[in-house]
Amino acid sequence: MFSNCYLSMTYIDTHTHNYDEAYASEEEAVIQRALDAGVRIMIQPDVDSGERGRMIDLVKRYPDNLRMMLGLYPGSVGKNWQEEIDDIKNLLDEEVVAIGEIGLDYHYCTDFVQEQKDAFVAQLSLAAQRNLPVNIHLRDATDDFFDIISSCRHLGLRGNLHAFSGSFETFCRLQKYGDWYVGIGGVVTFKKAAVAESVGKIPLERIVLETDSPYLTPVPKRGTRNESSLIPLIAAKIAEIKGLTLEEVANQTTENALRLFEINRPKIVL
Ligand code: NI
Repeated sequence: MFSNCYLSMTYIDTHTHNYDEAYASEEEAVIQRALDAGVRIMIQPDVDSGERGRMIDLVKRYPDNLRMMLGLYPGSVGKNWQEEIDDIKNLLDEEVVAIGEIGLDYHYCTDFVQEQKDAFVAQLSLAAQRNLPVNIHLRDATDDFFDIISSCRHLGLRGNLHAFSGSFETFCRLQKYGDWYVGIGGVVTFKKAAVAESVGKIPLERIVLETDSPYLTPVPKRGTRNESSLIPLIAAKIAEIKGLTLEEVANQTTENALRLFEINRPKIVL
């Protein structure tokens, strides 16, 4: 599907659920296609204790190419959030590259707003204690998010906003509260995507690539199941918007992800 020149480039998918049931028994082929497309590292976001075992098993099978984050996803926050976070604390080891995906999501449910905020603050503190970056999931809760990261400014937070869809102003506001990047995915390829304008203004040094697969499939594959092998489509769109070469986008976003998640440089086997 991609010409040979793509193979000399290396990409990192900073947010992909390769362990999702959508891939049941096909994970091997999905990961191989990603490797063939130059996506050498795939970071797995955690959701909650219900899916964690499957994720850890998969990451163990691909130690060179998969990395994991641990965190309680806002949509999974309920009355038992404290127990869930205790579970995460017990599993944190040197294999974990970030606390995520964590944050606030008021889109489908506002029953546990206070619990979401409490769990978010607790996990930001945990990340600071362990000197780990955070991977943020934010939907329909921007004001509360900024209230929280402003009150946590003393923690010296670093991380990225996954599936960033905000304005350039939101990106600039974010920079006041620590060392932040944004994760750009398939949405940037959609017709009339507002985030394309933000991407034009956000420095490439602050962008990391992600698919959020199996969701948010980039054009021209939109409407089908997403997978990490489609990362070059996202990189190509960013290159087009910014008037850069694909290689420049691949190299810089890879560099950014290696720095943010402190991943050793991947071995490139061509
Ligand atoms: Ni996700």
